[in-house]
Amino acid sequence: MHNILVLNGPNLNLLGKREPGIYGSLTLEEINGQLRLEAENLGLSISFMQSNHEGELVTAIQKAEEEGITGVIFNAGAYTHTSVALRDAIAGVKTPVIEVHLSNPHAREEFRHVSYISPVCIGTICGFGRESYSLALTHFSKTSAESGK
Ligand code: DQA
Repeated sequence: MHNILVLNGPNLNLLGKREPGIYGSLTLEEINGQLRLEAENLGLSISFMQSNHEGELVTAIQKAEEEGITGVIFNAGAYTHTSVALRDAIAGVKTPVIEVHLSNPHAREEFRHVSYISPVCIGTICGFGRESYSLALTHFSKTSAESGK
């Protein structure tokens, strides 16, 4: 059975009050609550972590396998566009990672058009608001926990 970690990076703890026109009005807690219900319905185990610190996100990715995590749904926030360290962490582990974004970064400022992590993730889902996370969860529900990447 899959054991999914939903990992959120910087400023995503501010969801609900942060630029609601772009990111919607749901808080991270509300989004995670909905994902928990969806995971239950899909028969998946799920846990959640948010950090504003790049190194903590790197450590979470490094430790995923030993903690029994079989898939990571990762919104790296602004680190998406800057972090070689996160890219190297994802490339260095067997755990499959799906990159997600609430907004569609390609339709926004040019500096958001580059993702350092896309090439090392198994796929990217963006632009569907909180649904981006659900679509990633659905993908994992259709794959075996042993398949890895
Ligand atoms: C984001 C998009 C990023 O460009 C931005 O820095 C974020 C949120 C999204 O979910 O749309 O913090 O990852």
